[in-house]
Amino acid sequence: MLVLAYLVATVGLVQGLKYMGDPAKAKMGNLVAAAAVLVALVALVAVTEKASTANLLLLLVMMGIGTLIGNIWSNRVAMTAMPQLVSIFNGLGGACALVLGLNQVYGQGTLVEDKLGGSVLLLTNLFGAVAFTGSMIAYWKLDGRKLPRPARTQKLIAQALLGLVVIAFGYYLLSPAEPAHFPVLLLAVSLAALLYGVYFALPVGGADMPVMISLLNALSGVATLMAGLVFHDPVMIIGGILVGATGIILTLQMCVAMNRSLTGVLAGKFSGSGAAQAVGEQELTSITAVETASLLAFSKQVAVVPGYGMAVAQAQRECFALQELLRQQGVDLHFIIHPVAGRMPGHMNVLLAEANIPYSSVKEMSEVNSTMEHYDTVLVIGANDVVNPAAENDPGSPIYGMPIIRAYKAKQVIVMKRSTAKGYSGAVNTLFDRQNCKVLFGDAKASLEEIINELKRI
Ligand code: TAP
Repeated sequence: MLVLAYLVATVGLVQGLKYMGDPAKAKMGNLVAAAAVLVALVALVAVTEKASTANLLLLLVMMGIGTLIGNIWSNRVAMTAMPQLVSIFNGLGGACALVLGLNQVYGQGTLVEDKLGGSVLLLTNLFGAVAFTGSMIAYWKLDGRKLPRPARTQKLIAQALLGLVVIAFGYYLLSPAEPAHFPVLLLAVSLAALLYGVYFALPVGGADMPVMISLLNALSGVATLMAGLVFHDPVMIIGGILVGATGIILTLQMCVAMNRSLTGVLAGKFSGSGAAQAVGEQELTSITAVETASLLAFSKQVAVVPGYGMAVAQAQRECFALQELLRQQGVDLHFIIHPVAGRMPGHMNVLLAEANIPYSSVKEMSEVNSTMEHYDTVLVIGANDVVNPAAENDPGSPIYGMPIIRAYKAKQVIVMKRSTAKGYSGAVNTLFDRQNCKVLFGDAKASLEEIINELKRI
């Protein structure tokens, strides 16, 4: 019975993950995965030797409280704060593994049977603690909170803490007998790892955040996997493997998207601090919504590059309306998505899917970068860093080396933004200095509405 329930839960988790690969089925994927975990939990409590009405009741009450808090929270959170929420969820996964590990030794008083069991427990707490505090720092960074400025000393402290953890592991593995003070060692490793998470995440510059977020996601999965090994729980092991493996794949993809090496990331060799560069104000050439509309109407090929500002303005439905209108007027419109546009992996894909924009019109950066000059007009809607040519030609820029969407190669570029503010990395955007670039100031949604009204009039 338990084996059957675990099998159902495992298939549910894999299927849920598969659905999440398709934006149209992502919601369903979430539900299927949640139902799979529910099946595993109920089966575990109902069938194992620890089955008791009290345990089952406790489980249902805790799940009820969690569901209520999650429901209220996710309904209240603004779409723009979703990446922060995802970071908190990541962190909570790590915190759970950490608490389970500590409880095993301190709460249950379980004696560690052998070196293998002890090592797995130490790793559970190591990965759980780093995922927890690292994700909390990521949350504060994404939320724009004031944190100590990135500094070299933070990297040094992080390296020293990592060194301490490695020494503790070495001591544990090499000591001849099972150390009687394992609980103290576990606590020390947990505390060092909690601090390491903070100092590992603090110096990461704005532009490198995507790599760090994916890595923390992977770490929370690995922590769950380790906890599953400690508790001999197959669903936890499989869930942990799935989250850990997909997280690692995502991390590698983000490394490619940012042109960073994974070993560099693991060694804390992140680029620039993300601090704004001190340069004089740029002279931007502005354009009106009416002028933009006529430019679009006379174009044959148009591309839209969405970025974080589109999410802030919630302008995805207006993007769809613009695409429909231009299509009726014989203009072809593509969306080009940069892998790190927005504030979480797949941020733009989710928003465009929500507005029912056909996936066939959504292009990857790598698909179109070599033919960008074919576009008559590129509309950059609330994107900044991902179209900044400084990434290609300014070694001093915090985003130097990151592949960008080469919007600057198009015949005409219109950037929609509200002010002269810089992008997330704090880098000056040299696209704005180009002759073929004009800025349409204003909220993206309001500007798009004006353009659409004008196009209807033309
Ligand atoms: P950003 O570089 O952050 O630029 C966003 C732009 O949107 C800004 O120029 C801003 O200018 C504009 N904007 C904001 N609200 C707007 C509104 N209501 N209407 C119109 N424009 C608005 O965005 P990006 O190009 O998408 O790049 C993403 C950055 O975030 C990268 O540096 C990336 O490394 C980093 N990051 C990504 C992730 C993931 S996983 N995707 C996670 C963390 C960090 P105004 O203020 O002047 O309007």
